[in-house]
Amino acid sequence: MSSGTTIKLKSGSELPSHVPLHLVREVSGFLVPNKLSDPYSPSLEVFETYPRIFFTPEFVPSLYDGAWVVTHYEDIREVYQNDELYSTADAAGFQRLVGETFRMIPLAVDPPEHGKYRILLNPWFSPKAITELEPKIKATINGLIDQFATGGACDVAYDYGRIYPVRVFMDLMGFPPERLEEFLAWEYAILHAYGDVERMKWGIGSAIRYLRSFIEEMRRAPADNLTSHIVHGQVDGRPLTEDEIIGTVSFLWLGGLDTVAATTALMFRRLALDPGLQDRLRTSPELIPDAIEEFLRVQPLVNSTRLVKKDHEVHGVKVKRGDHIMCYNATGNFDPSEFESPREFRLDRSSNRHFTLAGGPHRCLGSHLARRELRLALGEFLRRIPSFQMKPGADLTAHPGLMAVPRLPLVWDADKAHAAQR
Ligand code: HEM
Repeated sequence: MSSGTTIKLKSGSELPSHVPLHLVREVSGFLVPNKLSDPYSPSLEVFETYPRIFFTPEFVPSLYDGAWVVTHYEDIREVYQNDELYSTADAAGFQRLVGETFRMIPLAVDPPEHGKYRILLNPWFSPKAITELEPKIKATINGLIDQFATGGACDVAYDYGRIYPVRVFMDLMGFPPERLEEFLAWEYAILHAYGDVERMKWGIGSAIRYLRSFIEEMRRAPADNLTSHIVHGQVDGRPLTEDEIIGTVSFLWLGGLDTVAATTALMFRRLALDPGLQDRLRTSPELIPDAIEEFLRVQPLVNSTRLVKKDHEVHGVKVKRGDHIMCYNATGNFDPSEFESPREFRLDRSSNRHFTLAGGPHRCLGSHLARRELRLALGEFLRRIPSFQMKPGADLTAHPGLMAVPRLPLVWDADKAHAAQR
């Protein structure tokens, strides 16, 4: 940018005066829908040609209006881990669009306060709790495979990936299963309609209204589900306030609905394009856990943002209290200082500490559930469905992020499929 250029943020506001013009870069054009075999490959240009820290004028209503962006592994780790300098206080603040003032819990709470909410929720997401859920997850997955196995075709994104994690999550929370389509419509309006504020308001407003009524139901008639556990739970030896209850249930609702679905769709797209990888995992299912970790690494869904708590410098750049800073996982997960041959999909990584499930105190609460769901979804599919490809003529477009691949029609030889579950 030449001096004398006036830059406005996407919202129309002025660029903050402490942001030097030469550090302003557009980042929104990289993670856009494309047909590449690795839809994340355009982010390489950001890593290689942009300053190590830069400022993007991007605007996300109610979340941030322009943000610093860090792109290197080490810098992203620092932002996630250093809660003296970086806060989540205004993270996921969609509820503010409809005039609500409660906090999204646990994400929008900083340590040490954050810890008490994790103590309340952790037992429901521990490896032991997830192992107990496994038979239900497996039954849900196999019930879906039953519907298409011998037909030789399915839309793996729409009829499989979109459904199984939501059914598992709704069962965990106690939500009525018939609400599935309605929940997804609200959630898509919130997370996938950036810029369309009216749609976002409709989505979050509808969800909060419904969740409040469900909370009331659980208050009147306690049940064995996570919503009821929150409604009747305690933090610091006292019951949760109304705001804490709706904040916790709302954030779980937001985080638990379609993250696994997006990962599943991107994973199957990659497998359909790589029959060698498919065969390897079908003949050596013991490699599936490592494969899932690698799928997670090469498909980061979100780039988390933090609020800066104190003025300080990052690699000589002045960052001020009140600024926002984005962890660009779409480059951090491919940083060669941490990952050898980072753009290659490898099953033999000795360590794979990617940021897809974030890092530091807000590391994803649902990580064990997500991993187990993905392992089962892939393992059961490969066990029952023979070698598959994309349906001829199918659209290959993938959105490298939460939108992922809404439709992914696959085909296989129906005679070779396993109709029976066991
Ligand atoms: C592949 C699937 C998933 C991905 C990629 C994912 C990603 C993330 C990320 C990046 C964060 C941190 C956000 C931030 O730091 O700004 C996060 C936090 C969180 N996730 Fe997940 N998530 C997944 C699945 C789930 C599931 C299935 C649930 C619940 C059922 C869940 C619940 C949460 C919660 C409650 C937090 C907040 C944790 C805290 O603040 O302490 N996630 N997730």
